[in-house]
Amino acid sequence: EPRFTIDVIAGDGIGQEVVPAARRCVDAAVAAAAGISLTWRERDWGSDHYRRTGRMMPVDALETMASADAIMLGAVGEPGIPDDVTLWGLLIPIRRTFDQYVNLRPVRLLPGTTSPLRGIDELDLVIVRENVEGEYSSIGGRFDRPGGDTVAVQESLFSRSGTARVARYAARLAASRRGTLVSATKSNGIIHTMPFWDEVVAETVAETAPDVRLRSVLIDALAAELVLHPHASDVIVASNLFGDILSDLAAALAGSIGVAPSASLNPERTHPSLFEPVHGSAPDIAGRGVANPVAQIWSASLMLSHLGLDAPAAALYDAMVATMSAGTLTGDLGGDATTESFTDAVVAEIER
Ligand code: NAD
Ligand code: IPM
Ligand code: MN
Repeated sequence: EPRFTIDVIAGDGIGQEVVPAARRCVDAAVAAAAGISLTWRERDWGSDHYRRTGRMMPVDALETMASADAIMLGAVGEPGIPDDVTLWGLLIPIRRTFDQYVNLRPVRLLPGTTSPLRGIDELDLVIVRENVEGEYSSIGGRFDRPGGDTVAVQESLFSRSGTARVARYAARLAASRRGTLVSATKSNGIIHTMPFWDEVVAETVAETAPDVRLRSVLIDALAAELVLHPHASDVIVASNLFGDILSDLAAALAGSIGVAPSASLNPERTHPSLFEPVHGSAPDIAGRGVANPVAQIWSASLMLSHLGLDAPAAALYDAMVATMSAGTLTGDLGGDATTESFTDAVVAEIER
């Protein structure tokens, strides 16, 4: 019987609501498939842990997670604790230590949802975001200048190997879909890193998937193009920060940030991968039981696929879609379902 161990960190805010929801759905899908043993290792890490211990997670947390088959995370971040403490104390170290250099962010207009764009009734694209380097580097600091001024410096770091490997992943994905790849760039304004990004992406795509048509689009124009012509892109490869921004934009085009999943992948599988929604801890709605669990449930389906559990992964995704088709929707999508009633409906659909 195949056995899997999942480290689960609900974290802060609505993470505490949507993670238990996704767990219920995964348990139902796995039970329905029979013959699979899946064990959750519950980790009470996050801002409460920080207030108790001065750390977001224990010193040996990364070491203990190394033996997991996958990690599921809700979100971290809480008003009153600086984001650099919460995010750099938990999320960013997980992505980096486990070399999860691909952040896969599919965007689809799901049944029952409405795009804020007029006349759009179909949307299906994937953002491949570089997840461990680029604009998110720890190099820099604050420096006092003679004369009393202070400057903050943040270095961006793009390695050839780091750029090539994410471009390779995106090129293969593009080849398996429509055969087109859009690369988000800013080589007209960011003089050292972005021309290098363009060069390495172009070389890598030509080597990996010569039939894929590559289009490099300046990030500012791409943001506008996504709104005006959302079907012009199918797979988008982007640096860490550009991919971050584009993914909230694309999620909004698909009706709500509450439906956008993500997989922080270590494609070589030498380390566990991380499955987490695109959205954050949403302190503005936390504790009310109204958060949309779709992003978390879909992320869990991506996790099951990654583990090779294709049937439960599909059953979970299909049940989620069927629930939405039937008009069961949370408030962000204009419905009146709660996190719990939506989840009840998905579980019932799986068990049908
Ligand atoms: P957010 O994504 O938490 O919320 C943005 C808006 O979207 C809010 O109005 C929120 O109510 C809404 N929203 C988000 N998820 C929703 C859901 N599932 N259902 C319904 N509505 C939803 O972004 P923010 O408010 O900028 O950030 C809040 C905190 O989360 C910050 O501390 C931030 O750093 C952190 N954050 C963490 C992660 C993570 O841990 N992966 C990701 C993003 C942001
Ligand atoms: C995301 C989040 C994180 C990121 C933050 C919270 C550090 O916005 O996963 O999209 O920028 O990667
Ligand atoms: Mn983000």
